Amino acid sequence: MPNPFYLQEVPVDAPFCNRAKELKELQSYAESGANVVLFSPRRYGKTSLVKRVQRALADKGVVTIFADFFGVASVDDVAMRLAKAVFAVTHSTDSLWKKALKTIRSFRPVLKPDLQGGISLSVEPSSSGRSGLTLLEETMDSLTDFINTVHCSVHVALDEFQEIVILKEALQVEAAMRTRVQQKQASYFFIGSRRRILLGIFNERQRPFFQSAINYPLRALPNGELVEFIAKQFTENRRKCTQDMAREMVSWVGCHPYYVQKVAFFVYELSGKVTVEAIRQGIEKLILSERPVFEATLQPLSPHQRLLLQALAKEPTQKLLASDYIQKHRLGSVGGVQHSARLVEGLDLIEKDEETGFWRLVDPVFAMWLRKQAEERV
Ligand SMILES: Nc1ncnc2c1ncn2[C@@H]1O[C@H](COP(=O)(O)OP(=O)(O)OP(=O)(O)O)[C@@H](O)[C@H]1O
Ligand SMILES: [Mg+2]
Repeated sequence: MPNPFYLQEVPVDAPFCNRAKELKELQSYAESGANVVLFSPRRYGKTSLVKRVQRALADKGVVTIFADFFGVASVDDVAMRLAKAVFAVTHSTDSLWKKALKTIRSFRPVLKPDLQGGISLSVEPSSSGRSGLTLLEETMDSLTDFINTVHCSVHVALDEFQEIVILKEALQVEAAMRTRVQQKQASYFFIGSRRRILLGIFNERQRPFFQSAINYPLRALPNGELVEFIAKQFTENRRKCTQDMAREMVSWVGCHPYYVQKVAFFVYELSGKVTVEAIRQGIEKLILSERPVFEATLQPLSPHQRLLLQALAKEPTQKLLASDYIQKHRLGSVGGVQHSARLVEGLDLIEKDEETGFWRLVDPVFAMWLRKQAEERV
């Protein structure tokens, strides 16, 4: 029996825990033509959720465009990904495909057989020779034409949208996109996990996208539903798992959607019955498997920033700048802590819990790994 737990984005037809309220609200925003900024820490399920929202919209006849900006390398690349997203969603519907071919003037699609026996789609710039901002503007204008031509609602999801800020023309890119987005023929979702950067684009007064979208935070999954969900996946797939054991797994990783699935994945592989020992081994495997990510996260940080992370991994605090906390964790001066905290917060590594006011690490497994580093098994 295949392992029922997912390590990648959850396919739209796979079991999904809760998010009923979010699905309903996001779908309703999309239907009313609103723009939304959907944000959360990494791997909380934003992409999986938006794919589901788009599936529900598509079932109602909405044309749903999904472009991922992760790793964009240039303004041309942004334009190319937008054009590709339009061709990707239209290629299976003859009438839409024709409209896309007619309206998307800046790129032409290239369809080729792929190694798995399917068809792969890429795009090539058309012969106009335009590049940079002019190409992006032309592509956004083409997108507007496409939207006007299809005579039905259109929803556009731009995943990892904050990546555009690394481009040297970032502000002009924002301005060019904002002008066209505000023409309001479609609903746009801007999605991302680098919360400071993403929210900066929409909430800083001097930026083109200022207050142009609804801020929509995605929280961790609710404990009760997640426990039920995990126990059900085990028992429906021939493994014994009590509610208590499911609760144990969920509490180790603080209701973090990705880590819960991953630890459950390992536990499923390890044993026919979920036991405390199997969970312990699953957590070990989880930490080991994430180690390269954590090492790469620490690598560019200064010694003081690392020290601050270690302190917060060991002891979250409401009083980050209190002298006894600073002394206890040998953090030096108040100014130094302020400076490092600002930087690591900007990287989304630490956050202040809105309810409790405690500063802590955003990633519970990263915190576990840091604590483990300070211990030696004897
Ligand atoms: N509602 C859910 N039910 C079950 N598992 C979920 C749910 N939401 C997210 N997950 C788990 O979280 C993982 C991450 O999901 P996804 O890639 O959609 O998150 P993301 O927020 O887009 O991540 P990133 O920040 O890396 O882009 C999935 O592989 C899945 O295992
Ligand atoms: Mg994602």
